Amino acid sequence: MSQDIALLQRLGMSLDAKISGLRPRAFGFSECQTIRDLLIAGVLRVRNKKRGLVRLLPNRAQREFGGTCTHRNIVLKARQLGITTYVAARFFVQTITRPGTMTVQVAHDQESAEEIFKIVHRFWENLPNAMKRGALTRSRANVRQMVFPRLDSEYRVATAADVNAGRGLTIHNLHCSEVARWLRDPAEALASLRAAVPADGDIVLESTPNGAGGVFYEEWQHANETGYTRHFFPWWYDDEYRDRAGAERVRPLTPEEQELVLSAGLSDEQIAWRRTNRAQLRKLAAQEYAEDPISCFLASGECEIGRAHV
Ligand SMILES: Nc1ncnc2c1ncn2[C@@H]1O[C@H](COP(=O)(O)OP(=O)(O)OP(=O)(O)O)[C@@H](O)[C@H]1O
Ligand SMILES: [Mg+2]
Repeated sequence: MSQDIALLQRLGMSLDAKISGLRPRAFGFSECQTIRDLLIAGVLRVRNKKRGLVRLLPNRAQREFGGTCTHRNIVLKARQLGITTYVAARFFVQTITRPGTMTVQVAHDQESAEEIFKIVHRFWENLPNAMKRGALTRSRANVRQMVFPRLDSEYRVATAADVNAGRGLTIHNLHCSEVARWLRDPAEALASLRAAVPADGDIVLESTPNGAGGVFYEEWQHANETGYTRHFFPWWYDDEYRDRAGAERVRPLTPEEQELVLSAGLSDEQIAWRRTNRAQLRKLAAQEYAEDPISCFLASGECEIGRAHV
């Protein structure tokens, strides 16, 4: 085995090892705890919301997920917290450091699948040249698939409508994105994909809510019985959801707002942002910008269960 592959493989065996003897802060990676964090922050690049190409320094939701995830995970989240990016980053690192790995990310539609693939393509494109031309040379890369022949590893992005996505494969890393929006027999698609993952493989089911019913809702409700770790990320995990100008006019608070200030420690800037957001999105705000793992499921236009039943 050539040296570059042997080095990647050594890293792959110790991704969760804590960093010691190195002061990550000195390298600008203040949030790094493990070899995996160091690789993600050190070699992966993302487009941030201002369209700049930046290092992937994990944000609050990403750090919390990284610190608490297991082999089986279900993530209920507000919009745009960076979960798709971070799961892609973890799986990309696992794919390039563990020879023989098959990673599959499944999006709810074609457009999202292409967006996810762009994230992964950007990871590869911005790797150091020595890696791209060496161990991580690709034999094939189209809008759906990246193959690393020297490692015998592969990264695929499929859509939930692709009924054969899991057939005939052993999938080591499976990410099912926006599961609550999967159309066409989502339970069967999910069952088929999950059957392809061995016990020591990683599964992440992730979605913003979409009504109190359907496969994602059921999976969330039964996570304790099925052995899935629940992760809930409300909107205030993103520090950008603030309205600085509006904060001055926010007092007096409504009883509901006072409750949030007490329970979640929201600032006036966050309350001001919430007011505008609720005025604009109305009923959908509670779904798209979840605040707790119960009411967010009841907010959908597709569900008639009233809040009085909570
Ligand atoms: N650590 C980070 N640093 C800077 N930008 C980030 C980081 N993580 C994600 N982003 C950017 O934040 C935006 C949202 O990321 P992403 O699509 O992964 O979130 P999401 O929670 O899956 O969103 P959605 O609810 O739309 O599915 C993207 O523009 C992404 O590039
Ligand atoms: Mg997403």
